[in-house]
Amino acid sequence: MTTPFTAAIIILLTAVSSLSPSAHALGGSAATVAVVYGSATTICTIISQQPLQQIQCWQNGQLLPPIIPTTSFDYIAGGRDTLCATRSGGFILLCWNTTFNSKRLYNNYSAPLTSLTIGDTQICGLTNITSRQSVICWRGNEISSVQTPNGTLGFSAISSGLGFSCGVLEGNSRVLCWGDDNNSVSIQSEFSNFSMSNIQVGGRHACGMDNSGVVICKGNNENSQLDVPSNSSYEYSGLALGSNHSCAIRRLNRTVVCWGGDGEFSSNVTDGISFESIVAGLNYTCGLTTILFFWA
Ligand SMILES: *[C@@H]1O[C@H](CO)[C@@H](O)[C@H](O)[C@H]1NC(C)=O
Ligand SMILES: *[C@@H]1O[C@H](CO)[C@@H](O)[C@H](O)[C@H]1NC(C)=O
Ligand SMILES: *[C@@H]1O[C@H](CO)[C@@H](O)[C@H](O)[C@H]1NC(C)=O
Ligand SMILES: *[C@@H]1O[C@H](CO)[C@@H](O)[C@H](O)[C@H]1NC(C)=O
Ligand SMILES: *[C@@H]1O[C@H](CO)[C@@H](O)[C@H](O)[C@H]1NC(C)=O
Ligand SMILES: *[C@@H]1O[C@H](CO)[C@@H](O)[C@H](O)[C@H]1NC(C)=O
Ligand SMILES: *[C@@H]1O[C@H](CO)[C@@H](O)[C@H](O)[C@H]1NC(C)=O
Ligand SMILES: *[C@@H]1O[C@H](CO)[C@@H](O)[C@H](O)[C@H]1NC(C)=O
Ligand SMILES: *[C@@H]1O[C@H](CO)[C@@H](O)[C@H](O)[C@H]1NC(C)=O
Ligand SMILES: *[C@@H]1O[C@H](CO)[C@@H](O)[C@H](O)[C@H]1NC(C)=O
Ligand SMILES: *[C@@H]1O[C@H](CO)[C@@H](O)[C@H](O)[C@H]1NC(C)=O
Repeated sequence: MTTPFTAAIIILLTAVSSLSPSAHALGGSAATVAVVYGSATTICTIISQQPLQQIQCWQNGQLLPPIIPTTSFDYIAGGRDTLCATRSGGFILLCWNTTFNSKRLYNNYSAPLTSLTIGDTQICGLTNITSRQSVICWRGNEISSVQTPNGTLGFSAISSGLGFSCGVLEGNSRVLCWGDDNNSVSIQSEFSNFSMSNIQVGGRHACGMDNSGVVICKGNNENSQLDVPSNSSYEYSGLALGSNHSCAIRRLNRTVVCWGGDGEFSSNVTDGISFESIVAGLNYTCGLTTILFFWA
């Protein structure tokens, strides 16, 4: 007989700080992961490759029942005391507070959301309208006003950090930043000579891969968060930025390397572990790992 095999995913809460590592089996493969920080640390993921792409969360190390178990979701993002996700198709955006009371922030069947990002309390997405992806943003707390770039601009990627957001313009690959902080102006200008393929925003810094695959970081370097260990092309794939640190997945063996945060994030806890994706809270990083099980 041939040997059947199956694949499963394990989520590992790698806590390069206060969380203790734990493992949970999930079905399916590649999934996105989000962290909610603030009053209660919550880590959530979309379980993919199942009839229903449910949201599964862990709070204080405990697995919670699926959120709206009858509904499929496409994109997920977390910020300060807020979790948001788009229902499959991208037409509806739902957000939850830490006690999982939901609020509908967006509902438009003629303009689906094609990506989602949260930085602290600012929620931004891309809507796919008339052949370009334009930015739309909301305030989680609905107190302060929200800035968005000119609606005629098309973006290929966006990311939100503490108080500001950046995106990569479709067409010319330039970085454009917006938000209520001087960081957005200075970081946009520091990226002005780079053609980028993606961008991630942290506390007062941003990193992304340029069009030749080199990771470039700009902004505040008080905690060495810009000091990327390697400048080789395509050395890294996924990036995750916290307020004072940066982490990346090495493309070839999918192990994680972190820099900045005055060294407290360059832990050996994750040595030898392969990650599917990573995401950062303010002062920690979480990753989703893949483990392939074989049996005869
Ligand atoms: C991370 O930040 C939280 C909240 O400010 C704090 O309670 C925790 O001790 C911090 N962890 C580290 C390792 O600094
Ligand atoms: C979550 O929202 C519900 C309904 O708006 C509210 O009653 C509850 O107090 C909120 N929970 C927190 C922790 O803010
Ligand atoms: C839905 O999106 C379309 C395209 O952007 C826009 O013209 C329309 O006003 C939106 N509808 C609502 C209710 O916001
Ligand atoms: C945006 O919409 C166009 C046309 O409807 C489609 O071809 C394209 O794949 C969509 N882009 C994304 C990122 O969904
Ligand atoms: C957006 O950009 C277009 C084209 O460059 C310009 O005509 C328009 O005035 C801009 N709108 C705003 C609100 O800046
Ligand atoms: C932004 O920059 C201006 C001019 O350099 C300065 O006066 C202001 O205090 C800065 N604002 C913040 C929030 O740092
Ligand atoms: C961008 O390049 C131009 C021309 O080489 C140079 O004058 C400018 O200082 C550069 N800007 C930055 C932010 O490096
Ligand atoms: C890449 O890093 C090496 C070694 O640190 C350095 O010598 C080289 O100048 C760097 N190249 C670029 C393009 O920054
Ligand atoms: C991790 O590093 C610590 C301190 O540098 C060391 O004591 C420990 O043996 C290392 N663990 C592994 C698994 O390498
Ligand atoms: C992964 O690659 C890095 C850089 O090439 C190397 O330092 C590390 O030892 C590798 N880890 C494993 C588990 O192969
Ligand atoms: C980040 O570093 C600054 C000082 O550079 C410090 O004030 C702040 O508390 C740090 N943030 C976190 C989450 O550790």
